[in-house]
Amino acid sequence: MSYDLVVLGGGPAGYLACERAAHEGMKVVLIEKRNVGGVCLNEGCIPSKTFLYSAKIKDGAQHGDKYGVKCQGIEIDHPAVVARKNKVVKSLTGGIASMLKGLKVEWVRAAGVIKGKGPDGYEVEADGKIYAGRRLLIATGSEAAMPPIDGLHDQYEKGFALTNREILDIEAVPEKLVVIGGGVIGLEMASYFNSAGSEVTVIEMLDQIGGPIDTDIAKLLKKNYEDKGIAFKMGCKVTKIEDGAVVYEEAGKQQKAQCDKTLVCIGRKANTQGIGLENIGVLTERGAVVTDEHMKTNLPEVYAAGDVNGRSMLAHTAYREAEVAVNNMLGKKDKMKYNAIPGVIYTNPEVAGVGETEQSAKEKGLDVTVKKVPMQFAGRYVAENEGGNGFIKIIVDNKWNKLLGVHMITNYSSEIIWGADALVDKEMNIEAIKKIVFPHPTVSEIIREAIWQL
Ligand code: NAI
Repeated sequence: MSYDLVVLGGGPAGYLACERAAHEGMKVVLIEKRNVGGVCLNEGCIPSKTFLYSAKIKDGAQHGDKYGVKCQGIEIDHPAVVARKNKVVKSLTGGIASMLKGLKVEWVRAAGVIKGKGPDGYEVEADGKIYAGRRLLIATGSEAAMPPIDGLHDQYEKGFALTNREILDIEAVPEKLVVIGGGVIGLEMASYFNSAGSEVTVIEMLDQIGGPIDTDIAKLLKKNYEDKGIAFKMGCKVTKIEDGAVVYEEAGKQQKAQCDKTLVCIGRKANTQGIGLENIGVLTERGAVVTDEHMKTNLPEVYAAGDVNGRSMLAHTAYREAEVAVNNMLGKKDKMKYNAIPGVIYTNPEVAGVGETEQSAKEKGLDVTVKKVPMQFAGRYVAENEGGNGFIKIIVDNKWNKLLGVHMITNYSSEIIWGADALVDKEMNIEAIKKIVFPHPTVSEIIREAIWQL
């Protein structure tokens, strides 16, 4: 069977590419062995957001007295949270499957392996059949990295060590949970399980949580977490996982954290094994498919988008990369820019940022002004956050008088950051930004306030 495009992998990059390409009239086949939606919809972004929303309601109700609301006996009913998560996942993945059907995209529910190049193009074998495409999009995503930590594989098999996949389905809230890695997944899950009643300890190798986020934001987020009862072991490397305990090094000494479950979230690795990349000679580097800014690989008409190219490993990056790939297939020149990709941690409070941080600007030797403004300058924030300590930090290029970065820790920041993203990406001048009318009262007004306080 021959197609204009064969898409391997149905996550955000794959399904969006199918949608865009089919919309443009291409004959498309999607090869995806599991549910459509990838990690994002099935065991990542969306299910974790359902968990975090339940935690947000519970935390809000717990502090209801501050807002004149009397609430009693508040607790998380974890099985109900999981059941709702399953409903949401089913509804969204079902929506994507129907959308693809409506666009006449053929979905082959089987594992695909690239076999070679034939007269009709690149050939992928799935379910015993060959699907040939003039173009091929590799969008096989990523999975939790399982580094050589002693005992990790055994404990994973035994169900004591979990990844993002299993933790979203556990039936009972563990009494004690050790989270290995204080990155995005670790923080979001620590946040939920703390609200759900677990005694949570996060063990992080570096001195900062949240990876490359703004240092002051990382400190405040950690403090807010500690106030809620989450414990942190910073600068501690996990070396071993054994029955009922996680072993780590703290200042040269071996320590043990006893727990009922441990969540391993120490990064992800691109899914490039077992898909036949070597059969056509697709170039990989450090386990990820190499692409240029047009999402092209080293081979003509072979593209890669999403986590599999290891560039940014975020669903929203995957969407844009998929569009860039399809546009280039159609001969419309389009290229990917990575300078203004927003990063969000959906905890309570939310953290969001785009562009240069104070630290990255300094490391690059950029001539910048950094302005930090407390959220107390936004009336809506004050109305909704009794005693809140959030803030925004903006990074401005002194030479060109434009925004290089915006970083914030406040409620709604995930919904606000796209606006900052546009200002950074479009290199808007500070004087022009001053003239933008923001709705009042909103938390987003803090961007305008910070600009005027420069
Ligand atoms: P991550 O790369 O964000 O964080 C991993 C953390 O583990 C790092 O801070 C690292 O220093 C630490 N670490 C590594 N080895 C360790 C060891 N032996 N002992 C202790 N600490 C160790 O990876 P994470 O959290 O697994 O997230 C994976 C991906 O999923 C990321 O690319 C992230 O962007 C994406 N994601 C995005 C979300 C969002 O946009 N809100 C939500 C969840 C995931």
